Amino acid sequence: MCGIVGYVGSNLAYPILIDGLKKLEYRGYDSAGVALHTGNSLEVYKKEGKVAVLEEFVYGKNIQATVGIGHTRWATHGVPSDRNAHPHYSNSGNIAMIHNGIIENYAQLKSELQQKGYTFKSDTDSEVLLNFIEDIKINNECSLEEAVRVALKRVVGAYVILLIDKDLPDTIIAARKGSPLVIGIGNNAHYLGSDASPMLAYTKEVVYINDYELAIVRPDELILKNLGNERVTPFVQKLDIELAAIEKGGYDHFMLKEIFEQPQTIFDSLRGRLDAEQQHITLSGVDKIKDKLMEANRIIIVACGTSWHAGLLAEYVIEELCRINVEVEYASEFRYRNPIITDKDVIIAISQSGETADTLVALENAKKQGATIFGLVNVVGSSIARLSDAGAYTHAGPEIGVASTKAFTAQLAVLYLIALKVARDKQTIDQTLFNKLLADLAKVPQFVHDILEEQDAAIKAVALKYADARDFLYLGRGFNFPIALEGALKLKEISYIHAEGYPAAEMKHGPIALVDENLPVVFVATKDSYHEKIVSNIQEIKARKGKVIAVISQGDNIVAGLADDVMVVPQVHEVIAPLLSVVPLQLLSYYIGVHRGLDVDKPRNLAKSVTVE
Ligand code: F6R
Repeated sequence: MCGIVGYVGSNLAYPILIDGLKKLEYRGYDSAGVALHTGNSLEVYKKEGKVAVLEEFVYGKNIQATVGIGHTRWATHGVPSDRNAHPHYSNSGNIAMIHNGIIENYAQLKSELQQKGYTFKSDTDSEVLLNFIEDIKINNECSLEEAVRVALKRVVGAYVILLIDKDLPDTIIAARKGSPLVIGIGNNAHYLGSDASPMLAYTKEVVYINDYELAIVRPDELILKNLGNERVTPFVQKLDIELAAIEKGGYDHFMLKEIFEQPQTIFDSLRGRLDAEQQHITLSGVDKIKDKLMEANRIIIVACGTSWHAGLLAEYVIEELCRINVEVEYASEFRYRNPIITDKDVIIAISQSGETADTLVALENAKKQGATIFGLVNVVGSSIARLSDAGAYTHAGPEIGVASTKAFTAQLAVLYLIALKVARDKQTIDQTLFNKLLADLAKVPQFVHDILEEQDAAIKAVALKYADARDFLYLGRGFNFPIALEGALKLKEISYIHAEGYPAAEMKHGPIALVDENLPVVFVATKDSYHEKIVSNIQEIKARKGKVIAVISQGDNIVAGLADDVMVVPQVHEVIAPLLSVVPLQLLSYYIGVHRGLDVDKPRNLAKSVTVE
């Protein structure tokens, strides 16, 4: 949520910043801007709209600078506009700053500053923080670094800030709390970013900055300090991401690329963990908290959005296979509703980004109350990964499309492994079922490949047929119910069509009132123990002239005979089926979004990584 970049070195900063902003645009795209230090002045260029609009605006302007900072915004305080775009100038014009996060006590700071005569050009909390820093610098007659340190001790909220000062031509001052910051180490240069993607082309050596750390960054020097002004030794890590992983690679959109990557990403999430032949699962993170899991009163799954849907499916699977009580919580509710947590609770946090603010704070609270935290995270080194007592990475690779696809299926794959491993350890699953589920899981990458290969054109045709619908209903039962929710969310995000997911039987208790000849109803109806029931639900929709689109198992002539359109997936055990049935729904949303002429990689109002609550 908001992308930040910075560069100090000997090359022109601007092209590096713009390239970095494009790589981070998935984090927010309602306005963008850069501040450049030309050696004797600060130049700030900023514009409402995407990074391309900024680029056009800057064309022909002075970009002669080897130090600069850049920002792509997802609005929190103040509408998207030129004046609310970052960077902001301080009142004196001597400091420029970008900020990702929220300053909760900005109103109080603002009124204090206004009483001292400060004026504000924007509606943002960020400009307040900047002037607060400047005020301290002037009053205390101290360095910018010292002023930042003093200011941050009074700030309530979350932030990554990057500042440049007219008087410090070769320096960026940076600090973080609650929002991510990575610093890449180059050859007589340093690169700063919300994640590592802006620096991948230049370096593989990075330092992940921790909360309450402040960085003084010069071309040849990276000094880290805590807010007590003590030096902290930077921990340099090697990235193992390739540049190709964050490029479109010939696809029209990242979303399509990521959907088509799933045979590989699911394989990667199972690799080295699932041995179907030896009937064995290796998950060191689960081993690490095995005692806690064996004695757990309950497992609480905490997540948001698509990751929450993965959690909901995990509830069904873990309760079925492990006979442990599972609760699935929206992180935003869980963190505020004073839940009862004990040291007998194991929390599984699911997050692609590992930075979602609500999930992070929910975990911090639960940890304080003694719960054991297991993180299921995609982004290596992210805040949730670091906070967890144990965990497993999903290994889906960088997900750039704002709507989650490959990260979701990787989450499911690893959640299956966790459930199967715990069930085996607890002896709540018999050997035959264990072997069958392992064997089916091992086949999933190939089956997803087959769906993509064989169904793509048919799904595109279905998408075009219904692309003008006003509303959609998605229905599923049992293990496929979370997939109905996920299908509906994906369509909403990408196409802006109103869509609702419901348990198929619950439909009779309200949503059936929506059904008429104009309403497409998507049934996730693969062969399972509830199949006859869902066939009845389909009949109920047909009887009211609704249009039925069904995801069915290969060879299911019954539903094929009833539905207006079908999307076919291979037959696997019902526990594993959701990992296949979601794939056609991803493609359906994608093609509808594209047909409606929308930017499917950057849907309006959304951001990839929600680092504000
Ligand atoms: C939907 C989507 C969001 C995220 C949610 C949680 O396509 O991407 O709903 O799933 O914001 O994000 P993470 O998983 O990064 O915690």
